[in-house]
Amino acid sequence: MDALATIILAAGKGTRMKSTTAKVLHPIAGIPMLAYPVKAVCELGCRKIIVVVGYQHERIEAAFCNQGLVFVHQDQQLGSGHAVAVAEQALRGFIGEVLILCGDVPFIQPQTLVDFITAHRSAQAALSVLSVVVDDPSGYGRIVRAADGNFSAIVEHRDADQEQRQIREINTGIYCCAHPLLFEALRQVGTDNDQGEYYLPDIVAIIARMGNRVQAVCMSNPQEVQGINNRYDLAQAERLMRERIAAAHMANGVTLLDPAATYIEAEVQIGADTVIFPGTLITRGSVIGEACTLENNCIIDRCQLGNRVRVRACSVLEQSTIADDAIIGPFAHLRPESIVEERAHIGNFVEVKKSRIGRGSKANHLTYIGDATIGKDVNVGAGTITCNYDGRKKHPTIIGDHVFIGSNTALVAPVTIGEHAVIGAGSTITKNVPSNALAVARGKQTNYDHYVRIGKKTEQDT
Ligand code: UD1
Ligand code: CA
Repeated sequence: MDALATIILAAGKGTRMKSTTAKVLHPIAGIPMLAYPVKAVCELGCRKIIVVVGYQHERIEAAFCNQGLVFVHQDQQLGSGHAVAVAEQALRGFIGEVLILCGDVPFIQPQTLVDFITAHRSAQAALSVLSVVVDDPSGYGRIVRAADGNFSAIVEHRDADQEQRQIREINTGIYCCAHPLLFEALRQVGTDNDQGEYYLPDIVAIIARMGNRVQAVCMSNPQEVQGINNRYDLAQAERLMRERIAAAHMANGVTLLDPAATYIEAEVQIGADTVIFPGTLITRGSVIGEACTLENNCIIDRCQLGNRVRVRACSVLEQSTIADDAIIGPFAHLRPESIVEERAHIGNFVEVKKSRIGRGSKANHLTYIGDATIGKDVNVGAGTITCNYDGRKKHPTIIGDHVFIGSNTALVAPVTIGEHAVIGAGSTITKNVPSNALAVARGKQTNYDHYVRIGKKTEQDT
């Protein structure tokens, strides 16, 4: 949109959250609340986005760095009018309209903002306020209209009289105002109200009194402008956001057996024909290919999955890459930086950390693989452990293609097993094994014939 700047208010602490974290940093579907209005405004094509920050501004700025946002500081929270006023410097030389919204309104849609700005422009208004009619208006600023029906002022709930409190049309906190008129009007805002704050909504009456056209543009969907003020609102927002995300994936051909019980965060990609069972969580940034199956109660945390990957129940995958046709779980744990190549299997109670498992290799039962590089078509027997830690340092284990490792083997790193080697079950391997060799490193079995324990009761004794 041409000649449009946006101010997003996010300086408040959000006292009712009862949190040591600023309200706008609380995540909804895995991303900070503030990211949603920022995204909506970016989609409008608005280039100049000013965010007014105060409480925990360093943390907010760090979370939103490199996004082209301009941060301005409101050191003391003296009210929403004061918050907008501190953005004046950042708009020096700008000519156009200023859109104002709050950082705690995550459901606002770009199309609603486009319609609102279009209504503002076509009415040639100096100031437009987005309003909505709600069943329970308590707590909100009321849209007060004069006898002729013209919008004349906003009165905050706590400053409203009995009659004004009956009004169900409320201020959403979204405004569009001509610049620099906005700041001229703000200079006239006082603090003569119940909270002794500079109220942004007071500019309505001021701008109208200056002889300019003000209008309230009433929208139809109250849900979109629902603000988050406490943990209850946050939980409602989380549920609603997840519903939207789930609906979008289903529209793209993903099967969710129970969408309400599936936790897919924002910014996740999932290919068509993937099936996801209830209880599974997929975090922000994960990419899941086509025709995968993710069974119940899995955590897929920032992973990349190829096509036709099967993740069986109760598996935890963290920051790992899994190639086509691999099978993980049930009850498997892939820790960060693990790579599982095509058709490999990682089975029950197997933990993999910072390791590469080659094509078609299998570690199916009760195994720990850490700091290892495993070639293709390797069989890792049940109970095998890479002893990668000597108490001070981590060491690598390298296993060549087609190796067979017998059950209950301890591979004491650093150690290398050559291609096609075979390790006898129960071995503790401390030295490298050449290719094609058989290594057996365990106590030899001794059988003592005709052994009867002295004093052992025989059947006749009983
Ligand atoms: C505000 C409006 C109210 C409207 C409601 C919609 C005022 C006085 N009232 O009420 O008419 O119906 O939003 O949700 O604006 N902020 C700052 N610095 C401050 C004070 C506030 O940045 O010094 C920011 C807050 O972080 C928040 C926004 O301004 O994002 C609104 O402030 P808040 O105190 O939440 O106002 P409400 O009581 O919700
Ligand atoms: Ca609010």
